[in-house]
Amino acid sequence: MPYTTITGIGHYVPKNVVTNQDLTAVMETSDAWIRERTGIEERRYIDRTKETTTSLAVEASLRAIADAGIDKEEIDFIVFATLSPDYYFPGSGVLLQRELGISGTEIAALDIRAQCSGFIYGLSTADQFIKSGMYKKILLVGAEVHSVGLDFTTRGRNVSVIFGDGAGAVILEATEDKDQAVLSTVMHSDGTYAEKLSYMYPGAHGGYFIEKYGLEGFDVEYDLENNQYGGVFWNQDMLDQARVYPHMEGQAVFKMAVRKFPEVIMEALTKAGLGIEDLNLLIPHQANLRINQFVANTMGLCDHQVYNNIMRYGNTTAASIPLALSEARDEGKVKKGDVVTLAAFGAGFTWAAAVLRWGK
Ligand code: UT7
Repeated sequence: MPYTTITGIGHYVPKNVVTNQDLTAVMETSDAWIRERTGIEERRYIDRTKETTTSLAVEASLRAIADAGIDKEEIDFIVFATLSPDYYFPGSGVLLQRELGISGTEIAALDIRAQCSGFIYGLSTADQFIKSGMYKKILLVGAEVHSVGLDFTTRGRNVSVIFGDGAGAVILEATEDKDQAVLSTVMHSDGTYAEKLSYMYPGAHGGYFIEKYGLEGFDVEYDLENNQYGGVFWNQDMLDQARVYPHMEGQAVFKMAVRKFPEVIMEALTKAGLGIEDLNLLIPHQANLRINQFVANTMGLCDHQVYNNIMRYGNTTAASIPLALSEARDEGKVKKGDVVTLAAFGAGFTWAAAVLRWGK
């Protein structure tokens, strides 16, 4: 049975840098608050006239394709992880296929909706397809554009200051060499906490779960009895009440994240037949520098064993891990043969980890 190896990697971020200070012009916040609570110093936002989630993905993909030294027509499957797709449907995978100019290949394109864990969910999915022999050269992308969907008033500041735009991509190929392969992947979820980090409007739920679980602070007027047709997926009241924004109960997410990261990292290492002492580099999802420092301390890892770039990009959700892995490689922090562990936690809640031996 073949293993999966990363043969190419690339990332792309928009040129427009937005500092913490810039955000103080539109909401009550401060550079000191954002740095202390999150470690973030700046993030990138797209140029709204010519960039989208897919266009960021194209740039990252082209770099990964060039790095792998393959022709884009050789790609036989696209996996696209994002929570900020260009369209509600169709998915971003087909848009990427078109923008790369490979629609004529008629290969399948799969969108992954696992938020911050999306890239590792995508890696695990692609790994199974390569092991089964069904596909041989998979393009896996994580890309996000948050900047067009945030509440930039003081009301939304706990969420808005954190997120940024960016993309990262890898080419995954089959190999017989276990010394440069994905050694293990693990994935988990617990839907009990679905609304704690969510973007619920517009949506088909019609308020059902809000009533069922007695959720507070999500109400929207529906008048379902007199409105059998239309007006449920979205309506004016959602806009009037400014519900069309992400919602996050930060402390609940933080507490669960610092518990689940060490668990899932150890699970993936154990599944790979390795221990924490074998780890060369941990690339955690970049949600909050304080979460990553807490995890590093808990696990007894030194600074050079954990790669963070949230300071420059904020939280780019599904893009954060490939963006960090790509930068770490460019900076010479990942070397051939190194044991690299990727780990993520986020909305759902979902969490996941992967262990690989770097082969590039
Ligand atoms: O990738 C997705 C996964 N997401 C995460 O992992 C996020 C995990 N959670 C966090 O990172 C943190 O909870 C946050 C950074 C989001 C928030 O930090 P916190 O220490 O949990 O702050 P808090 O929400 O408890 O708010 C503390 C105070 C509040 O003011 P009062 O009520 O104490 O007067 C907030 O209104 O800080 C206020 N606040 C802000 N002040 C200045 C919230 N956001 C801001 C802000 N600027 N941007």
